[in-house]
Amino acid sequence: MADNPVITIDGPAASGKGTLAQRLSADLGFNLLDSGLLYRIVGYTASDAQLSLRDASGLEVFIRDRLRFKINQEPSREIAPGSYEVYIFKHVGVEDTVSINGRNVNLVLRSQETGVNSSIVSAVPEVRHLLIPIQRAMLTPPGLVADGRDMGTVVFPDAQLKFYLDASVGTRARRRLDQLQKPVDQSSLVKMISELEQRDKRDRTRDIAPLKIPENAQILDTTNLTIDEMFTVARTTIREQILI
Ligand code: C5P
Repeated sequence: MADNPVITIDGPAASGKGTLAQRLSADLGFNLLDSGLLYRIVGYTASDAQLSLRDASGLEVFIRDRLRFKINQEPSREIAPGSYEVYIFKHVGVEDTVSINGRNVNLVLRSQETGVNSSIVSAVPEVRHLLIPIQRAMLTPPGLVADGRDMGTVVFPDAQLKFYLDASVGTRARRRLDQLQKPVDQSSLVKMISELEQRDKRDRTRDIAPLKIPENAQILDTTNLTIDEMFTVARTTIREQILI
């Protein structure tokens, strides 16, 4: 087995990546990177600071000078004026929790509006560039499960094993509505399908690090799989391919 292996999971919104990544990291005892959360944090804080979400140099200065990421650290009482102190807390088997300037922001970060804002800022090369070292720093012993859109293509191109998850857009819309605890009726489904399609299109067609299937990726269609089935298929592949 390689030292500190990386397993990447890429795919479109609500394809099951986050759930699979949490289950695998808990099972393997690996660190977990939810890279979408970093883009959500940038989208949310930049919009809170009333920046234009397409202004590359404004975003670059903002991230460099005013955004501070702390992982699993005790929040400090001192907040520099105008800055956003972002504390990300990791928990085994469940999603990360986040506080910004002492405020719990878990719900707003995972809202549909923040999803759209994150997808807009994620198309800005300067933003992607500044987030790369933060993502690579998450690779610590004994290994990492990394969830996102460009994990296997850009951030961890040498990963030992790459998955690409997908599912029909109807299934993904249903899952996202469930996740947001919204009713699943015809009109909300139609609206969610259209939102997902727009976001996927933006993610797939941007110039930098577009969402695509990494070379040699194991493709997993999760449309008709339960969470347990998805986990079992992925876990079996890991055992067969990288012997862990
Ligand atoms: O996965 P999640 O829905 O939280 O990601 C939010 C947005 O962040 C995505 O729609 C995508 O635009 C962006 N993203 C990205 N690269 C990643 C992860 C997420 O561009 N590695």
